[in-house]
Amino acid sequence: MSLTVNMSRLRGDLESLSSIGRLAGGGITRTSFSAPDLAAREWYQARCAEAGLTLQTDGIGNLFAEAPGTGTAAAGPGRRPAAVWSGSHLDTVPDGGAFDGAVGAIAALECVRRLAEERVELARPVRAVVFADEEGNYNHLLGSTALERGFSRAEIEAMTGRDGDRLVDAISAIGWDPAGLTSTQADPAQLYAFVELHIEQGPNLEASGTNIGVVTSIVAIGGATAEFRGRADHAGTTPMTRRRDPLRAAAQLISALPGITASVSDTAVATCGKLVTFPGGSNVVPGLVRMLLDYRDPDAGRLSRLDEQLVAAARRAAADHDVALDWAAEAHVAPVALDPRVRSVIDASAGGLGLSAVAIPSGAGHDAQNMATLAPTGMIFVPSRDGRSHSPAEHTDWADIENGANVLLATLTELATSGLPPA
Ligand code: GLV
Ligand code: MN
Ligand code: MN
Repeated sequence: MSLTVNMSRLRGDLESLSSIGRLAGGGITRTSFSAPDLAAREWYQARCAEAGLTLQTDGIGNLFAEAPGTGTAAAGPGRRPAAVWSGSHLDTVPDGGAFDGAVGAIAALECVRRLAEERVELARPVRAVVFADEEGNYNHLLGSTALERGFSRAEIEAMTGRDGDRLVDAISAIGWDPAGLTSTQADPAQLYAFVELHIEQGPNLEASGTNIGVVTSIVAIGGATAEFRGRADHAGTTPMTRRRDPLRAAAQLISALPGITASVSDTAVATCGKLVTFPGGSNVVPGLVRMLLDYRDPDAGRLSRLDEQLVAAARRAAADHDVALDWAAEAHVAPVALDPRVRSVIDASAGGLGLSAVAIPSGAGHDAQNMATLAPTGMIFVPSRDGRSHSPAEHTDWADIENGANVLLATLTELATSGLPPA
């Protein structure tokens, strides 16, 4: 019989984690580097201590947990084989759900605990990871991007959060050293493979009645902050024809989004998820509007076309309403195809547990897409009820979480004992 997770412990952990940052309306706000995010990190640290795991962190706030000594014996004294990593994130979007990120982060911890408890003889270590700021409070996939390529001082200095605050200020405010933000790159030689368990966040697995999604590829993501600058005026005395209202330009751009995405592909999506008017008063024509945009397509070339069309539409909107435009684009997150060998181990693990599995693409972004540039990487999806996510309505049945965690455990065990199958 194959090794399985301790589901009552995993469920208990997910339930207690979900109380951190819980809002009166039922959602969870645990945005990165906020007080609830710090509380979740402390909570995770306590779980590691309780299980006798070593916990390391790096300058940007990624966490790494391991059972000391496991998976190192075969390499001989003082030598350490490249490790199999698994994990996800503890941060949430504002008013998010209890499963996005948490399932993969805590299931990875549970797998490390089970392998240690059962003293499974491993040829390489298994390391549980929590990535910092996956949800992009400051930068989408911040922690894994730091591991993948590192950030320059200038990039870090320029990063601002959803609320317009600077990352370096947020880091200082919580007592961390901002200098550490640039010293986080991973050594690919220490990384054998990466596997992330996650909820699907879309409707396809549930609709197909399949237990497990074996992820084939992850979408390309672009982001931009657009600022339209007009002139603040009195709402009662300024004739409609004499205004330079930046909110009208923002409204024109938002209305253009469906036409732009449809002209690029039927898979392209674009969203304005945050829009702030300044100074912000019902009797003031706004002087400035700041809007945050997120746009995606599975294809990198089509994402670049989206970029071009969005900037052109924003410029037209600014000209039509006699306002200035400031457009700051984020670096693209590249799309990735996941490793066929890791996919085949996931597929076989699901089959070995008697679970159905289907190949499926991801429309959500994940740290796995950065990890895929460092090591062979795979992702396991479990169904999301009604495909809902980034909302308090997010839900995955405990039985599905148990299935996903057991597939993860079998996959990690295989990778850490037999290794990757031949290509
Ligand atoms: C991550 O949750 C994303 O934005 O896709
Ligand atoms: Mn996530
Ligand atoms: Mn998310």
